[in-house]
Amino acid sequence: MRSPNSRGFDRASPYRGGQMTDFGGVSSANPFQLPAPRFIFMTTQVGAERALKAEMSRRFSEFRFAFSQPGFITYKVPPGRRYPEDFDPGLVFARSVGFSLGKIEGTAPEELAKRGADFVSLGSFDRLHVWQRDAHPPGYRGYEPGPTPEAALAEELLRNSLRARLGDGDFAQARPTRIGDLVLNCILLNERTWWFGYHRAKTVTSCWPGGLWKSPRVLDEGVISRAYFKLEEAVAWAALPLREGDPCLELGCAPGGAAQYLLDRGLHVVGVDPALVDERIASHGQFRHLRMRAHEVPHREVRRARWLFADMNVAPPVALRAMESIAAARNARIRGILLNLKLADWDQAEKIPQWLDRMRSWGFSSVRARQLHHHRQEICVAALRRSPVGTARNSRSQRRHLPRSTISPPG
Ligand SMILES: C[S@@+](CC[C@H](N)C(=O)[O-])C[C@H]1O[C@@H](n2cnc3c(N)ncnc32)[C@H](O)[C@@H]1O
Repeated sequence: MRSPNSRGFDRASPYRGGQMTDFGGVSSANPFQLPAPRFIFMTTQVGAERALKAEMSRRFSEFRFAFSQPGFITYKVPPGRRYPEDFDPGLVFARSVGFSLGKIEGTAPEELAKRGADFVSLGSFDRLHVWQRDAHPPGYRGYEPGPTPEAALAEELLRNSLRARLGDGDFAQARPTRIGDLVLNCILLNERTWWFGYHRAKTVTSCWPGGLWKSPRVLDEGVISRAYFKLEEAVAWAALPLREGDPCLELGCAPGGAAQYLLDRGLHVVGVDPALVDERIASHGQFRHLRMRAHEVPHREVRRARWLFADMNVAPPVALRAMESIAAARNARIRGILLNLKLADWDQAEKIPQWLDRMRSWGFSSVRARQLHHHRQEICVAALRRSPVGTARNSRSQRRHLPRSTISPPG
């Protein structure tokens, strides 16, 4: 069932009940239209709020800060302005963005789920995303952001309530979100408070609940390190059109988590790192280890590489210099880059626009950054050429292989 509102506006709707605080009026001409949004919400890594607020004031100064908790921020939409349902400011530190519908409070998840289901009457939603606000900065006492059992339980209870109300239709099922779907969001702020919102999925990451990438693999099952998931998430976000057999260079490859992901994807990996690589990677037939520093990589290796990956524990200017010596070399045919940059402090976030400009100057047309949910105090930059360095004919054939999302970059 794609249109729950075909049964009309529910009397028990929180919108009617006046408990909600964040939205304007429903158009009387069309009572099933979503209310004019008055607030947007964003979720982010705990600790990154200041960087996110700085980004907002630099890029969207017309929005007024309204409310924040660690990992969760709301802004007032400029009065009289309408934004499309798929509004996505494309901010580096905003893991998810949506229009706010308001919050409900209760003492138990069952009670919250029953009342939360009332929100369904506010729009013709296609999908439901439920997730938990980050509890701590990543790494704090072993804490890792991501999908949680609490969010899974809340989602199950909400879906049960939705089924009771709407029947066993499409919206009540947990199905993957597609671009264009209208998504009802439920964010668990704490045990007693659930915040609701909505967005229309426009980008790859807005199809993931809370912008959280869920890997089909788990660490215990032979994955060498978290770097595996970090790169997997980065590739999915950037929609990199990797193909089996593609040659790549990986700078800072030890101990080998990221290389393991690339090898699983069938790539030929030349790993660069003075440190030792895990034996399972070192002995892989499609892996070669260059025990050296990034700036020492020989030209012939640069010439062969199609993709460039880097995750070195060095300051961003050092990492950029090393990347430049490879990506902007005369004989380079690098098609795309995923570069991890570690921020020594959050103030360095102000330099991100300059770093992106520098990478554009190497001939990459699509350059954008995101803090991934597998990140610590760091960001990932994805840079793609629309076409490889080469002939016009090559460029045309390349474009045919590019998914749309890579040509019009997702956020
Ligand atoms: C965060 S670890 C990389 C994790 C790795 N990508 C993985 O998947 O397991 C950072 C690595 O960068 C390496 N490194 C630091 N400076 C480097 C440089 N100038 N050239 C190459 N590697 C470097 C370090 O030796 C270290 O192994």
